[in-house]
Amino acid sequence: MKRTLFVVDDDPSFRILLNTVLSKEYQVVTIPDAQTCLSQLEKDKPDLIITDYAMPETNGMELTIKIKEKYPELPVIVLTAYGSIEAAVEVLKKGAFHYLEKNTSGTVSTANFTVLKELIRRALERVDLQNETARYKTEVENLKKQVTEFRPTTLVGNSDAIQTLRKMMEQVANIDSTVLIRGETGTGKNLAAAIIHKMSKRKESGRFVEINCAALPETLLEAELFGHEQGAFTDAKTTKKGLFEVADKGTLFLDEIDSASLSVQSKLLSVLETRSFRRVGGTKTFSVDVRLICATNASLEEKVSEGKFREDLFYRINVVSIIMPPLRELGDDVISLAEQFIQRFSNEMNKPIKGLTDEAKKQIRSHVWKGNVRELRNVIERAVIFTPVGESVTENQISLTSFSEQPLNSRSQKQFSMDFGKSLEDVKLAYIQAVLKENPNSYTEAAKILGITSKSLWEIRKRHDL
Ligand SMILES: Nc1ncnc2c1ncn2[C@@H]1O[C@H](COP(=O)(O)OP(=O)(O)OP(=O)(O)O)[C@@H](O)[C@H]1O
Ligand SMILES: [Mg+2]
Repeated sequence: MKRTLFVVDDDPSFRILLNTVLSKEYQVVTIPDAQTCLSQLEKDKPDLIITDYAMPETNGMELTIKIKEKYPELPVIVLTAYGSIEAAVEVLKKGAFHYLEKNTSGTVSTANFTVLKELIRRALERVDLQNETARYKTEVENLKKQVTEFRPTTLVGNSDAIQTLRKMMEQVANIDSTVLIRGETGTGKNLAAAIIHKMSKRKESGRFVEINCAALPETLLEAELFGHEQGAFTDAKTTKKGLFEVADKGTLFLDEIDSASLSVQSKLLSVLETRSFRRVGGTKTFSVDVRLICATNASLEEKVSEGKFREDLFYRINVVSIIMPPLRELGDDVISLAEQFIQRFSNEMNKPIKGLTDEAKKQIRSHVWKGNVRELRNVIERAVIFTPVGESVTENQISLTSFSEQPLNSRSQKQFSMDFGKSLEDVKLAYIQAVLKENPNSYTEAAKILGITSKSLWEIRKRHDL
């Protein structure tokens, strides 16, 4: 039986859009305002609520508070305006399961639907877990497994670059050396790490566990990696296993390793040398058998020379290095990838789509994919949403963001320009992207220029797949 979702939004076209995106998997009830939502809760007993934040009269946060008073277990996902971190933090504090940024350009709104679906799936799974405490432990294991299995398991493509990459991954899969995966954003570093684990014997004996070193502040990252004893710090109410323990006999993937602090770096070096560690606040030594894969799109050599990355750790993790080719070097693979994404999204949306018209192919071939495969995937997802059932994706549906097509002014002039007629939102995202491009190797520098923290920049980039 389909689970019931309430979609609460005062914007009728966004309600229709969400209904289209979600109704294959869920029973969607669209509701125009918070009051109606509250009065229908008892009758329809929804499994999850998705609500807009900005609504007249009762807003999404007030609605979350009211829902939580009566139904503390009912998950609420709040759609906040892009960039309003305060609103996001606020709704999380009030008990929302998660928030998702909504992009509004003129009167048209959109959001990252892949992320939304994943959030819904996780929220519903969490409810199930809460209902079945006895099965709690195994369910968590399954959930974690599913999250890592969410992504595809093979690299698409037949270009020389992809074939060489595949061969290299096969060769490293069954040796235990640490692998460093390098490459531009969106080239498939996370995917490659997961595939290496799947091809290795470790797939049978242990798990693939991943963590993004840029996403957590230093002390949390340390506790996450090595675990902590009860009372090790204020929030350490119980003893917790670290990811090194969780990944025992499996693979631990440290994404954006360049963001790990020097103190975490020295602990990592020590684990790599001794194959053992202590939990934060603990005295017992744990021995583990973990294969480490690291990824970065920064220049570690530069970080080493600036004293921000330990040279000894750099040599330790750089035993084998794999470079992910950018999409522009993959020739016709870009079309195979686009076709594969069409198939995937048309299956997910239960919407048969023929393929690509010749003009659409031409456009895809000539576009400069600065965000690599991720950018391509997002463009195709949007195109599939707007392509009529049974037809092919045309060049019109491939709405390539014009800022990527425009050559940015030369680096020496360091100027940023855009045509008139863009929304503030477009300009913001294009500017962020331009600053990132100008500072490909330093997040901190890019964040400084933009006047936000590195963590916020990382979050914006992930959320908008920049
Ligand atoms: N060769 C490929 N075949 C199929 N899918 C791919 C390929 N390369 C990348 N992808 C897909 O592209 C998206 C981006 O890949 P991924 O997240 O692994 O990139 P990344 O290099 O880790 O990016 P970042 O540096 O921003 O973290 C994912 O959805 C991934 O599954
Ligand atoms: Mg990545």
